[in-house]
Amino acid sequence: MKKRYETIVIGGGIIGVSIAYHLAKAGKQTAVFESGEVGKKASRAAAGMLGAHAECDKPGTFFEFARASQTAYKRLTAELKSVSGIDIRRHDGGILKLAFTESDRARLMEMAALDSAEWLTPQEVYEKEPHAAKGILGANFIRDDVHVEPISVCRAFAKGAKLFGADIFEYAPVFSIEAAAGGGVRIQTASGAAEADHAVIASGVWSGVFFQQLGLNKRFYPVKGECLSVWNDSIPLTRTLYHDHCYIVPRHSGKLVIGATMKAGDWNEQPDADGIEAVMKKAKTMLPRIGGLKIDRCWAGLRPETEDGNPYIGRHPENDSILFAAGHFRNGILLAPATGEMITDMILSRPIEPAWEEAFKVDRKEAVHK
Ligand code: FAD
Ligand code: GLY
Repeated sequence: MKKRYETIVIGGGIIGVSIAYHLAKAGKQTAVFESGEVGKKASRAAAGMLGAHAECDKPGTFFEFARASQTAYKRLTAELKSVSGIDIRRHDGGILKLAFTESDRARLMEMAALDSAEWLTPQEVYEKEPHAAKGILGANFIRDDVHVEPISVCRAFAKGAKLFGADIFEYAPVFSIEAAAGGGVRIQTASGAAEADHAVIASGVWSGVFFQQLGLNKRFYPVKGECLSVWNDSIPLTRTLYHDHCYIVPRHSGKLVIGATMKAGDWNEQPDADGIEAVMKKAKTMLPRIGGLKIDRCWAGLRPETEDGNPYIGRHPENDSILFAAGHFRNGILLAPATGEMITDMILSRPIEPAWEEAFKVDRKEAVHK
């Protein structure tokens, strides 16, 4: 391990490795310190939907940022393959956001006005997906809300970062961070100390400890999501089905990923039987025949939620050497490219979109978390 880097990233989830990739590509000497293995926490649990429309209820800054990140994936799919040799398994089917009630229909038809969402009648839905549940009132078809395989994206970012010269240390938990005597920052890790001009906290739901160490009274809230996957060789499905924050995602492998519960305040990373039952019950309302498919595996992960549900992406208000990129809640896979670019632009003193800087800065005014 070198004793000094230009930038140290704490956390090797999708956010940390995206930042490392973008910084290393820009020529910065970068190191990632990861407690366990790259991409094995919340990032591995994710379904991988790039759900800019599906996850947003209204237009605004968050939606614009999400769309920019979704667009960045179009370029990154080929770029990461060419740089790292890893295919991020992008699946272009899009999402069908289903309406079961009149209020679903009204809300979705309003959202269909957003760029690239298209309202479909029930007949048009069944033409596309004949096995969707009977009785739906229509759906928004969102072509651009494609999905990727999160662990492959993490591996591709990490390998690409290494090929651009970054160091990635696994099983290297960071215990503390402080201002370095000669300028910049100093961290203590399981294998000794290291210093850097800049450090970026990207430790997912575990970021709170560093905010506290750095004098910022911000909390992170785990929202556990439980999922399962099933082997599918009998129900043709080419688009993700989505309703009320639950989804059935068809993977290239033929498996279907079914998610997910929203259990606030639960730090336990194991799925439980009630959680899986609840997810299955919801999935059957969208695709009734899914109950007959064989289970592949079940898992859970902790979404990192903040006070207002938006991520913190920005500098420490009193120390320009320290930056934060954490709290991406339900959308860290989607937002990883834009977050990596934004942090890199900040470190390189490039211009940032002012609305994004304002919306995601650490010292914004937030409502108290319920
Ligand atoms: P993590 O992936 O949790 O990474 C943080 C890393 O920091 C971990 O690897 C951890 O080991 C490391 N770390 C912690 N403390 C330290 C320390 N002291 N020192 C060193 N390292 C440390 N998002 C989408 O966009 N699309 C989806 O379809 C989607 N589906 C989801 C489904 C489920 C069930 C869940 C749970 C989440 C889903 N998400 C989805 C959300 C997404 O997974 C998260 O927003 C994203 O993974 C957060 O990434 P992260 O890098 O911040 O956190
Ligand atoms: N974005 C999907 C989830 O968080 O479950």
